[in-house]
Amino acid sequence: MEATTTTFGGLELLTSPLVMTPRDTSTGLVLCALTHLEDGPGVVVDVGTGSGAIALAVAEAAPRAAVWATDVSSAAVELARLNARRAGLHDRVTVRRGSLLHPFPGTADVIVGNLPYLPLSERPIHPELATEPVNAVFAEGDGLGLVRKLVVAARRHLAPDGLLAMQVRGLIHAAPRSELHLFEHLLAPAAQIAA
Ligand SMILES: C[S@@+](CC[C@H](N)C(=O)[O-])C[C@H]1O[C@@H](n2cnc3c(N)ncnc32)[C@H](O)[C@@H]1O
Repeated sequence: MEATTTTFGGLELLTSPLVMTPRDTSTGLVLCALTHLEDGPGVVVDVGTGSGAIALAVAEAAPRAAVWATDVSSAAVELARLNARRAGLHDRVTVRRGSLLHPFPGTADVIVGNLPYLPLSERPIHPELATEPVNAVFAEGDGLGLVRKLVVAARRHLAPDGLLAMQVRGLIHAAPRSELHLFEHLLAPAAQIAA
């Protein structure tokens, strides 16, 4: 069977039915990382890398950056590694299977994440996502549990002047380490916001 590909941030990437196909909206996360690095060296972690799209686009545009990418899905890890090799970026992009920031061992200048954030209950109203792996897009409860956990984990792994940037409900949100509390309102349970 012929391999299917897509383009993201100027890179041609292999896709798989087992891994979410990257969307152009996520290039905002690439931009956040590049703006923060300002052409300098630095460490960037892409959490929930899927096909490797964000990690690879950052590595391609920031030749002095070292990039890490994690995903719980072994199919995603395999695909991201394949894409890193095809792009000639495998020397600077480390892809590991793990949850959130595990097993990233160090301190990051930028953490980016496009994790699942849609409640499973909303699956019927998103026919455009019908071909994507459920676990890549939908999560239990209000859908935001993993995103909340990433904010907590980021405190332990971000440099003092580091940046966390996440895609939530289709929009890009970013905050420096000193202002991670800004995510609290965005991620508050609906009942709390209404109160
Ligand atoms: C919405 S997809 C985004 C994929 C890719 N970042 C992109 O923008 O195309 C979310 C990804 O997060 C991964 N994921 C889910 N739970 C995770 C966790 N606890 N830790 C790391 N990755 C996770 C999924 O396997 C999936 O590949």
